[in-house]
Amino acid sequence: MQQQSVVSRPKSSEASLSRMPVAFESSLVVQSSATVSEPKSAVTPGASRGKASGEASDAPAAAASGVNPPLSPAALAIPRSGIRDVFDRVEQVPDAISLTVGEPSATAAPHIVEAACEAARAGHTRYTNVLGIPEYRRAVAEYSARVKGISYDPECEIQAVDGATIGLYLALAAVVAPGDEVIIPSPYFTSYDAEVMLVGGRPVTVALRPENGMRINAADIEAAITPRTRAVIINSPGNPTGAVTSAAEMARIAEVCTRRGIWAIADEVYHPFVFADDDMRDTDDVRNAAGKSAVAPSIAAVPGMKERTIVVESLSKTYAMTGWRIGYLLAPENVIEQTGKIAELMHSSVNSLSQYAGVAALTGPQDHVAAMREEYRAKRQIVLDGLSDCPVLRLVRPQGAFYAFVDVRLTGLDSDEFSRRLLDEERVAVVPGEAFGGAGRGFVRLSYAGDADDLREGVARLRAFAERVWNPITGRHSASYHPVAVMA
Ligand SMILES: Cc1ncc(COP(=O)(O)O)c(C=O)c1O
Repeated sequence: MQQQSVVSRPKSSEASLSRMPVAFESSLVVQSSATVSEPKSAVTPGASRGKASGEASDAPAAAASGVNPPLSPAALAIPRSGIRDVFDRVEQVPDAISLTVGEPSATAAPHIVEAACEAARAGHTRYTNVLGIPEYRRAVAEYSARVKGISYDPECEIQAVDGATIGLYLALAAVVAPGDEVIIPSPYFTSYDAEVMLVGGRPVTVALRPENGMRINAADIEAAITPRTRAVIINSPGNPTGAVTSAAEMARIAEVCTRRGIWAIADEVYHPFVFADDDMRDTDDVRNAAGKSAVAPSIAAVPGMKERTIVVESLSKTYAMTGWRIGYLLAPENVIEQTGKIAELMHSSVNSLSQYAGVAALTGPQDHVAAMREEYRAKRQIVLDGLSDCPVLRLVRPQGAFYAFVDVRLTGLDSDEFSRRLLDEERVAVVPGEAFGGAGRGFVRLSYAGDADDLREGVARLRAFAERVWNPITGRHSASYHPVAVMA
């Protein structure tokens, strides 16, 4: 199995870069002298990420087309999300079992809905403070202390945002200067590279390794740091891998960030969905600063890290509130000053009713969060059982979130062809791994957040398909990631 290590950074032809605006340059990719391997998905030509690397030269063509005036080259350079292509394809197959959706099947609990209705009836329908209503920020502060073991001042260290997607943008906009490098462990949530480019930064991907449980590794991060590095994005539990980075590894990453003077941008949107169970080798290590093993450790909780961490959070997954568009940032005061200024220009304030609903979510009963976690644990088992002893497919046992990242390389099909044929021949939709960066090549992501019967049937068809297309000449797995415990 290929064991690529690890760094892929945008390369640049200095001569041509010097003639270009920075935001535009940052989209260019050329191979650097660093260790290497992963072509950057955002600029990999091909269906799943659009044709970003070619967009630069398309810009003048668009301008010259005469259809309308020119578009911004920087905007054109932003790749379209590969996941959108998959959704478009799935729509063409109405009876398909879709294992693509990255959101809970539940909807928000009744007391949350009622709080929003009550706020509307009470006339809380005006602009709010750009940082959010005081009640919401206090609820976030209390929640963060109780669940994550980290204290934040609701006056100046917390900001309401319209969800983690905009939160991530604000965080990057506050700390990244044009041309700065941002390290992204790969595979990664599809927006990361494009959001870095949007603020004029350069995404540098670092491959996560299956033999390491796809967990983030401090040494690999450090190897990618250059004098231009400004930040690293830490996503645990991870999308698309389900990997949870241990408290001990977080401490090592924190040490690297502190010694090398870089920011950690911590995307913790799946934090309450950790399956700390007997088969996890380092269960204790996964205990977070509040002593909870079902909640992922936060890098911000490592002593000394709060001052160099921006936590990007959302109520989308925790409370099944994806459509409400509500989340928050936790960061040092001087960062919140910047993110507040930028947010003022972008949205003035966050939806007031969602903030009141957020107060109810964060301060109200939490049993439905625990229920969702148990539901995901049971559904994860459906995936593990369905793929057990499969000679062709294997996966790192997911430890959190609600995704399984399945290695399809032994089928001999690349992940895009695998996904297309699986949809055409078995009517099962999964997302090709390249949609999450070059390190996802050879894998497909399936979400197990949906209906259990569909999941069981979908996994059975996935397995049957893989075994059918498999040519035994390519061999079978001699070792399995699953079900053996991952190596630390
Ligand atoms: C890792 C990760 N971060 C952020 C988001 C976006 O969350 P939100 O709905 O809060 O914008 C998602 C959504 O799938 C995600 O998987």
